[in-house]
Amino acid sequence: MLMAASLSSCAAAKPLARNGPVKTPSNANYRTPSLQGPIPRNPDMSLSSDFSRGSGISFSRVLVSGNYVAMTFDDGPHPQNTPRLLDILRARNVKATFYVIGRSVDLYPQVVRRTVAEGHEIGNHSHTHRLLSKLGDTELRTEMARCRDAVGSAAGVRMRTMRPPYGGLLQRQRELVYSEFGYPTILWAVDPLDWKRPGPSVVTSRILSGTTAGSIILAHDLHAPTVDAMPATIDGLLRRGFKFVTVSQLLAMKTEPATAQASVNAVPGY
Ligand code: NI
Repeated sequence: MLMAASLSSCAAAKPLARNGPVKTPSNANYRTPSLQGPIPRNPDMSLSSDFSRGSGISFSRVLVSGNYVAMTFDDGPHPQNTPRLLDILRARNVKATFYVIGRSVDLYPQVVRRTVAEGHEIGNHSHTHRLLSKLGDTELRTEMARCRDAVGSAAGVRMRTMRPPYGGLLQRQRELVYSEFGYPTILWAVDPLDWKRPGPSVVTSRILSGTTAGSIILAHDLHAPTVDAMPATIDGLLRRGFKFVTVSQLLAMKTEPATAQASVNAVPGY
């Protein structure tokens, strides 16, 4: 019925065209539709992930001389949402960093193995997701060590960085974790508050508007709507020229303020 109606209205419009130009009313509300095309692809890069100790113990962003950003996903692994996210990342050649909860690693070790096998980085997000700033040193060590051991036995990898649940870790504790486990504390520069479930399009727009070069972006693969937001989010960032690297790769490309300025000035033609 719908097609028949639209065909007949099209046929009715033709004789009008022969009688002279058809006036087109102004349409200030018109917006260009979003581009539908092949999925954009993160470039192939061979980058070091060896960041030197002594470059800092807390980061929410990294000063870099390129459009690099690190996408991070907390609170997994989740048996359905994480594999769905991995499919989305793989289709775009994007490598991300997953801050996992040790307790969930024990439940879903195969998800962590797939994450590692597809080139992503794993970081320590504690074993039981407690607010670490309320814990004594012994409990803090146990939270770090049990997650470390869970990831080690699930996937055989050594984690390089940690993110405290709720972002809560005292300066003194950050120093302890750095000296005893070797983990810098990784916070974030862009927080879409996706855990409040504002809807995928809001998650996307918050990330697109908040991201600049060197940003560490926070999201949670625990939540299905966050995963729903990722195709548009990642494609939007790729179309804006951002390149995705892991947190360790981002730390490894850290420049000093003077060096970053010098390299900007050194670009030919500028
Ligand atoms: Ni968390």
